[in-house]
Amino acid sequence: TDRTFTMLKPDSVEKGNVGPILEKITAAGFRIAAMKLTQMTVADAQEFYAIHKDRPFFGELVQYMTRGPIVAAILEKDNAVEDFRTLIGATNPAEAAEGTIRRLYADSIGENAVHGSDSDENAEIEGQFHFAGREIF
Ligand code: GTP
Ligand code: MG
Repeated sequence: TDRTFTMLKPDSVEKGNVGPILEKITAAGFRIAAMKLTQMTVADAQEFYAIHKDRPFFGELVQYMTRGPIVAAILEKDNAVEDFRTLIGATNPAEAAEGTIRRLYADSIGENAVHGSDSDENAEIEGQFHFAGREIF
């Protein structure tokens, strides 16, 4: 089966939405292969989101992603990357479909509750960024 990588972002942890979001994820058929509460440093976030380094919101994004703990996880399911992005909905929660995690739990395009990898290749890179081999089951 396939894997994707997710982060429940600092706003989800702050608002107490970790439990409800994990419930939606497991109810949708994803198996948790790795999971932990952790906090990214500024250097971590700059590296993780390096693809966005020239975007006007980069500073805001790094500040947001490092302001408190996140839940990082590797999720397993057939067609994991695409199905997870369907489950979380559009980047901007105002445009996210009814019932999606971002529609339900995100406040704005800047604070949008969850991350989901955008390709199998990035899922692998992002999973290895956060987890050692012995933490993946
Ligand atoms: P991720 O799963 O987090 O990668 O989101 P995405 O793939 O739906 O969006 P994208 O990779 O384009 O952007 C990465 C993250 O940057 C988003 O999830 C937002 O947190 C943030 N972001 C994107 N666009 C904006 C914007 O216009 N303003 C602000 N403040 N943040 C943005
Ligand atoms: Mg993205």
